Amino acid sequence: MTTTQHSLRLASIGDGDGMLITPRTEGTPFAALFDAGLDGLLADAGHLLIRGFDPSVEDFNELVRQYSSRTTLDPARVFHGSAAQKVDSGHAPIGLHLENGGTPFAPELLWFHCVKAARSGSQTTVCDGYRVWDALSDRAKEAFTAQPIRYARTVPAELWRRLAAFMAGDGRGLDEMSVADLYAQANPGAKVEFTENADGSLRYDYQVYAAHPTKWSTRTAWANSLLGPSFNYETPDIRFADGSPVPDAVVAEYTEVTEAVTEEIAWADGDIVLIDNSRVMHGAAPSPTRTAPFSTPRATRGPDMKYGIVIRYQFDPAWLRLSREERRAYEDVFQKEIVGPYVDRLTVRHFDAEAFTADYSDFLLIETEDLQAYYYFVEGLRDSDFIARGWVRIHDITIGVPDGYKEYEHDNA
Ligand SMILES: [Fe+2]
Repeated sequence: MTTTQHSLRLASIGDGDGMLITPRTEGTPFAALFDAGLDGLLADAGHLLIRGFDPSVEDFNELVRQYSSRTTLDPARVFHGSAAQKVDSGHAPIGLHLENGGTPFAPELLWFHCVKAARSGSQTTVCDGYRVWDALSDRAKEAFTAQPIRYARTVPAELWRRLAAFMAGDGRGLDEMSVADLYAQANPGAKVEFTENADGSLRYDYQVYAAHPTKWSTRTAWANSLLGPSFNYETPDIRFADGSPVPDAVVAEYTEVTEAVTEEIAWADGDIVLIDNSRVMHGAAPSPTRTAPFSTPRATRGPDMKYGIVIRYQFDPAWLRLSREERRAYEDVFQKEIVGPYVDRLTVRHFDAEAFTADYSDFLLIETEDLQAYYYFVEGLRDSDFIARGWVRIHDITIGVPDGYKEYEHDNA
């Protein structure tokens, strides 16, 4: 145990190895975490919940930099975005998976930062692959030991080129990317084949064992993306390497076993979660309120119709020259004075997009049924220092209706 750990309180959470880290006293600085040996603690725990520090996004990014080996893949950016999405939107359940576990680009560590917890129960789930492996039958263990799993999928040209450019991080444009760049960025030793199709899309075929040793141990963990999601892509074809499907009885078994040992993390504002992505799978539990807003039958369009609006923008260097305190103060102004008056009619979520595109650095996703409230919100934004002082340049605004066609069909049936 390092000396800085004396300023931290360590406690176990859940019914597995997970660990909760809190400040021992109120004055404990966030920087105490920088050399607290979190990676060593993670090796035992599998996942860490760090609570009670309420760090800024900059603090969080710095913590990630202190511990992450794959600096080219700036996980702070990536996972800040994906954490915000999961924690804030968390209405749909997401199956257990390793982050990027169906690709050769899986990171070793996975970080989540919950800037603001959702008001109604969004919960991230975690499932320790050690516990799953220990609970599986010999029949299942034999099946997963005999051969690897094959994940195969086609990815549209723009998506794979964007990913390649992001990972290469050397300023080359999307047009300059080739499959060679993907091979160059794949995890060492990954068994993968990339094939560029005639239409520019990419076919990949990735083989990896569902159960394997972990980053820190030779002990076997059943940790993979067999149960996981596939956002933005076609659903992957998942089967054993010899082409045979995973037998239904084995699927039923691992579904039951994973459910039995899955734990839930109920987010609080400012929480950080660090996960060993070679051992512990994560997902999202269904929110208790999930079905209510969507199951209400809608007789009419009009006020019932929900709009999704994306405002993409770029921060000006003048904004970045402000001190951290000033920026935080203005972020408060934004929440209280610009969003605040409409908080009962709009949900406004912020996403950091810097890692994925050079055109804009951030976007706001606004959902509302009340376009007038949205219009007033934008007027307030335009009148604010953010626009007036040139700190923010709006790149573009997109508006749409989620599943609008269903509404149309319903009303015209
Ligand atoms: Fe994930």
